[in-house]
Amino acid sequence: MKLAARAANISSSPTLAIDSKAKQLKAEGVRVFNFGVGEPDFDTPQHIKDAAIEAINAGMTKYTPAAGTPQLKKAIVDKFKRENGLDYEPNQIVVSSGAKHSLYNAFQVLVEEGDEVIIPAPFWVSHLEQIKIAGAEPVIVMTTEDNGFKITPQQLEEAITPRTKVVLLNSPSNPTGAVYTREELERLGEVILKHDNIVIISDEIYEKLIYDGLEHVSIACLSPELKERTIVVNGVSKAYSMTGWRIGYAAAPLNIAKAMANLQSHATSNPTSIAQAASIAALSGTQQPVEDMKKEFVKRRDYMLERLLSIPGITCPKPNGAFYLFPNVSSYFGKGYQGKVINNATDLAGLLLDEVQVAVVPGIAFGNDNFIRFSYATDMNTITEALDRIEKLLSKLE
Ligand SMILES: Cc1ncc(COP(=O)(O)O)c(C=O)c1O
Repeated sequence: MKLAARAANISSSPTLAIDSKAKQLKAEGVRVFNFGVGEPDFDTPQHIKDAAIEAINAGMTKYTPAAGTPQLKKAIVDKFKRENGLDYEPNQIVVSSGAKHSLYNAFQVLVEEGDEVIIPAPFWVSHLEQIKIAGAEPVIVMTTEDNGFKITPQQLEEAITPRTKVVLLNSPSNPTGAVYTREELERLGEVILKHDNIVIISDEIYEKLIYDGLEHVSIACLSPELKERTIVVNGVSKAYSMTGWRIGYAAAPLNIAKAMANLQSHATSNPTSIAQAASIAALSGTQQPVEDMKKEFVKRRDYMLERLLSIPGITCPKPNGAFYLFPNVSSYFGKGYQGKVINNATDLAGLLLDEVQVAVVPGIAFGNDNFIRFSYATDMNTITEALDRIEKLLSKLE
């Protein structure tokens, strides 16, 4: 049967091949060192689970308002004020089934055929696909290691055309871990404000996972003009180890928030009532578990970075946020191992899995196949042994 063009154009995930192979190996009883996952390996903190159990026992098991309960919206409004210096009314908040869903709603209500969306690369693959699903054209701007994988004001200016409708920002970034400073965002904001009608979608899902004393800055807080142009997307998945609970949220100018809420009311209705109750505990309760998780992530990042940089030919800027490392492995291209030639990061990722059972995501998934992505949301023993294996294998390539 013929599918709609909308469906036919959706790419299958480039990570899928590696992922299914890794799963197959695991099912065969092979130990796989998995660096592919994009979720914290910690359990959801107990006080958040308790809030969910209380919600069930209190009968909070029915529909809620489509865009979220008043209690959760209040907790989100308070969070924006306290942590980001942003003032929103509750009707500017839309709670959805994960930040991915918030982003989907945002693209659906903002862009259509003929519109362009500027997306700095390396990008998160769902950003790209969601732009395409909405019918718009992604305008990919390649950032470089030298610039810390951040788009420059000049690159942004050059990419803007009369058709530009949205600029997508993602700080801290998946896959590079890059974090934009206040000054960098101010300069990007100046460029955007020179052009009428450009909206910013700012994906801040990794906000809490920032290291080295850096602060998270939302571009929306830099001026009232920028706030009027920005949809801030955030959620509880990464900060509170709640990936399975599916709660994300967006804060937007009122007309955009209303459109997103309307769309959602006809697509999925409210996100899960119980997960919403748990998210209030996450946002309003103790933040100590986040601090503990951050300490562990920093330890892992530092160890992995040191080990990777000690491998000849590998370069990798120090990521200041999220839980990913994104090393450049292109110096290995053209080399081979037992008759297999490595032409790109996809080949290398395949070799790592086949030969030493280490699963990583090739950079092709993020728009640049000179790199591979490691998620360090895995334990230290796995990290140590996997790096021994990688080091040994790479030393044998010739
Ligand atoms: C950059 C980015 N945005 C959004 C999401 C989606 O988060 P959620 O699990 O809340 O849908 C992810 C998850 O991997 C992500 O990496």
